[in-house]
Amino acid sequence: MRLDIFTLFPQWFEWFETQRHVRNAIAGGSELRYLDYRATTPLSAGQVDDSPYGGGAGMVMRVDVVDAALQAAYGDNRSGRRIVLMTPSGRPFDEELASELAREPDLTLLCGRYEGVDERVREHLVTDAVSIGRYVLSGGELAAMVVADAVLRKLPGALGHADSAMEESFSAALEGHPEYPHYTRPPTYRGWDIPEILVSGDHERVREWRRERSRERGASDREGA
Ligand code: 6GU
Repeated sequence: MRLDIFTLFPQWFEWFETQRHVRNAIAGGSELRYLDYRATTPLSAGQVDDSPYGGGAGMVMRVDVVDAALQAAYGDNRSGRRIVLMTPSGRPFDEELASELAREPDLTLLCGRYEGVDERVREHLVTDAVSIGRYVLSGGELAAMVVADAVLRKLPGALGHADSAMEESFSAALEGHPEYPHYTRPPTYRGWDIPEILVSGDHERVREWRRERSRERGASDREGA
């Protein structure tokens, strides 16, 4: 995958790239780029924002600044490229959308700052708008890292073990439910025991027990428990 992230804070992503699965994705042939809107802004003195028409508090990122950044990276040929605006008012990000984006050969995430981004970016320049939850972050960078993390770990070779992502939360193998609980040594700690079935050696019953716990968690999720 070629993943481009447009941001006013490219240095935020230096930490992100130190993560093992991100480095694995890069070693496996994926390319990550961080593109700074200020490097391509057509305005003087690195200006990227302006005050909102209609008045109100805060500043808005300009459409010409975002367009110039996309133009510098891709020219006019953006056909087929998934370009995602990170915004609290976007489509809720979930495991299904992560899988969908992981199938794209080319993916672009646009981070906004300030009070928001000129709506014409959403109307004319992007293919998607995505939110990571119903709360407001001060910029799209952390949200882009969340999306990039969830997407990159799905690429072949990103995780150490080929099947360590197979039976994880929300996978088809678990019928879309959250993951079952895990336990490791010691078997008893401060009087807290592990479920005995896990050391029974009966793989079929272990599988059934896990599926049951996973379903239970799915049900309590919906009840908000
Ligand atoms: Cl994608 N951006 C911002 N600024 N805040 C958010 C978000 C995105 N998703 C949830 N909150």
